[in-house]
Amino acid sequence: LNYHVPRTRREILEVLIKGLRRLEYRGYDSAGVGIDGGNSKEWETNSKSIHLIKQTGKVKALDEEIHRQQDVDLDVEFDVHLGIAHTRWATHGVPSPVNSHPQRSDKNNEFIVIHNGIITNYKDLKKFLESKGYEFESETDTETIAKLVKYIYDNRESDDITFTTLVEQVTQQLEGAFALVLKSVHYPGEAVGSRRGGPLLIGVRSDHKLSTDHIPILYRSSGKDKKSCNTLPRMDEDTCLFPVDEKAVEYYFASDASAVIEHTNRVIFLEDDDIAAVRDGRLSIHRIKRTAGDHPARAIQTLQMELQQIMKGNFSSFMQKEIFEQPESVVNTMRGRVNFENNTVILGGLKDHIKEIQRCRRLIMIACGTSYHAGVATRQVLEELTELPVMVELASDFLDRNTPVFRDDVCFFISQSGETADSLLALRYCKGRGALTVGITNTVGSSISRETDCGVHINAGPEIGVASTKAYTSQFVALIMFALLMCDDRISMQPRRREIIQGLKVLPDLIKEVLSLDEEIQKLAAELYQQKSVLIMGRGYHYATCLEGALKIKEITYMHSEGILAGELKHGPLALVDKLMPVIMIIMRDHTYTKCQNALQQVVARQGRPIVICDKDDYETIKNSSRTIKVPHSVDCLQGILSVIPLQLLSFHLAVLRGFDVDCPRNLAKSVTHQ
Ligand code: G6P
Repeated sequence: LNYHVPRTRREILEVLIKGLRRLEYRGYDSAGVGIDGGNSKEWETNSKSIHLIKQTGKVKALDEEIHRQQDVDLDVEFDVHLGIAHTRWATHGVPSPVNSHPQRSDKNNEFIVIHNGIITNYKDLKKFLESKGYEFESETDTETIAKLVKYIYDNRESDDITFTTLVEQVTQQLEGAFALVLKSVHYPGEAVGSRRGGPLLIGVRSDHKLSTDHIPILYRSSGKDKKSCNTLPRMDEDTCLFPVDEKAVEYYFASDASAVIEHTNRVIFLEDDDIAAVRDGRLSIHRIKRTAGDHPARAIQTLQMELQQIMKGNFSSFMQKEIFEQPESVVNTMRGRVNFENNTVILGGLKDHIKEIQRCRRLIMIACGTSYHAGVATRQVLEELTELPVMVELASDFLDRNTPVFRDDVCFFISQSGETADSLLALRYCKGRGALTVGITNTVGSSISRETDCGVHINAGPEIGVASTKAYTSQFVALIMFALLMCDDRISMQPRRREIIQGLKVLPDLIKEVLSLDEEIQKLAAELYQQKSVLIMGRGYHYATCLEGALKIKEITYMHSEGILAGELKHGPLALVDKLMPVIMIIMRDHTYTKCQNALQQVVARQGRPIVICDKDDYETIKNSSRTIKVPHSVDCLQGILSVIPLQLLSFHLAVLRGFDVDCPRNLAKSVTHQ
């Protein structure tokens, strides 16, 4: 949003496109931009129309589309110009221009909005708006926001209603997570943004020193606080506008500092439920009411970081960032699906097929790499809760064997990218044999999500690091949710279902607790990084953790590592154990506990000195082991999420110490789209 200095439309679009490029790492299936239409220099008139340009594919495709548009004069100058732009990683609706953002209120683009996050009550809002005659054009949850703001505007009691008030009324109706920015032909030159759960910041560019480093919050409903802004310039009854600085020339709303850092390093991070508006070159931040503990101002911070660093936050690599995102990514997987109050699970993507799945003869999980391990990790709980035979197959081997598949089988395809060639071919093979196919993917609109009959999107957010981490734990949670759904009407299963659902509720906090072991694990890595090999042993629920931990170590540290089923030790692997061989064992207090203790004794008897990942209050194991990594206790079938994180961290630190590129390991690709 620029003020005071005329800029050409070309310059404005360049700022927007460049910003999108910086955000592209977060998702890139489509992109769009909304700018002022018309060609007049006078913003009062030219902003009466809004022009939308949207395109499927990467930001480059949008840029090309902009330059193809005949009716967009790029050389026209504006004194004030507001444009909004968005790059999309689909959660609702396939990637397509109509599903891209900005979403609009109507054919005249009266209100347009860009949104990150998921509106969980969008179906109810949509039904309401449809009953009022609003016609929807996209499959997105975001479109309901644009329509709702127009509905409120169309039904306003007074003509003086401000844009801020409108957005405030809209956000009060929204459930779920969002960061959004709106623009309207009714409020030319004004932008309003708000957030709840999703990040949103405002960059302020000025060629002069700013006159303040704090923006006071304006409260709508508290008489006392309202007084505090009386000395500030007022634009209307309910909005006081605080000038950041008379000479501030540009404001940038963005979900990530990487999009604005090349223009300014001065940013304001908004808090949940802040409503920020820029109007006539001035910024105001507004909240409905003041609650105890609220900070009454937002600081303008000066960022010192380099662009590259900001994209990764404080993390040195995307893999590390993604490991630390897991408390949030598992919440995103469950959001709007698990109800912890009445212990229910709803999976919208399966609802039309769940009865058929409940009647099937067996479940087959088919996947590659880490996604295969998610199948191994949840097999036991799936067998328990569905009482069906469950097979877990590596896609390549499944195809090699011409495996028999029947019409009453249900085949699951687990894939972060949704594009892995082996998994996709196995999907087509199973479909050809008449089985019902279910996709578990992180990528809306991917081949697997399109070609399966139904499915669950894990909503972990884009995963950039080649070594998969947060996708694994989200796949794990998604499969658990499916298992819970399968037995929701079995009375005998209810106590177990309740136990697991309540376990899911506290899972994010337990993940945080495991992540706090990072420093301890870094020290362990410092002792191990020059070794040639690491063996990881466990059984039951934790066999998958052994496989996954060993895969992480192989992938990014290039050390040899093997996940060993502890029950098989005596049939061969025990021969590898001596006092020099690094061994990690996973021993948790579940039904395999005694057997795991036996395995520990077998290793110790061969002079092995295993590092044991165990329950933090398992004093027996702590006493018998020379070294332990102590993790919090969860429900047995969820414990695998907590036991794998120390190994994700260990592989990361080993790779850093060995001097390798954590995000781009040699010879490997994030998504293997060839056989
Ligand atoms: C590649 C990646 C692995 C991933 C596997 C399956 O090998 O390097 O990290 O686990 O593909 O990918 P998918 O996208 O199908 O989960």
